[in-house]
Amino acid sequence: MISVTDYTNIRVNYELKPADLRFPSAEEVAYMPNNRHFARAIAAHHAEMVKHLERAVRDLAQAMEEQRPWAPLRDALCRYADGELLPHAAAEESTLYARARDNPVLVPLIEAMLAEHRSLRQWRDRIQQASQAVDALVAGGALSGLFAEHAAKEEHQLLPALVRRADVDLGALLGALQDELVGRQFPPDHRL
Ligand SMILES: [Fe+2]
Ligand SMILES: [Fe+2]
Repeated sequence: MISVTDYTNIRVNYELKPADLRFPSAEEVAYMPNNRHFARAIAAHHAEMVKHLERAVRDLAQAMEEQRPWAPLRDALCRYADGELLPHAAAEESTLYARARDNPVLVPLIEAMLAEHRSLRQWRDRIQQASQAVDALVAGGALSGLFAEHAAKEEHQLLPALVRRADVDLGALLGALQDELVGRQFPPDHRL
């Protein structure tokens, strides 16, 4: 598992929109650099997962095209979802999302994102149930595409709303998010 400290070395293209930076108080300004740092860390983790999913779907498509065995790739994708993607979503629900909910303005966004988490779980089940390569490919593509859009929404709508808040410590939330993941069963090559 990558620690919070390890994340400091990861650089991603994550920037706040100008609208998120209007009229911050002095207290907010004091919190923003640290919170922005951890928002980047979360975005870096997203980027890693998006890349993994896209590669898994490409591998599946290639196996289908070349008429090679595809079932092991379907199973590997399910294991990745169970070991990484869905634990990430569950951990967010009890940390980031729970914290964001105390702002009524964010509640509709959180509800939409919870619905997307449910869809991610359903697409994972559809992958597992696939008995034809094309079904696994369709469900895998849907999972991958939905997660990419969902992660972007978190990075560009949810996190900027939290970054400027003086009463939100994203570092502590990220720590709590990682704590949520500790103790779960991961494949040997698991990385957070
Ligand atoms: Fe999420
Ligand atoms: Fe996320």
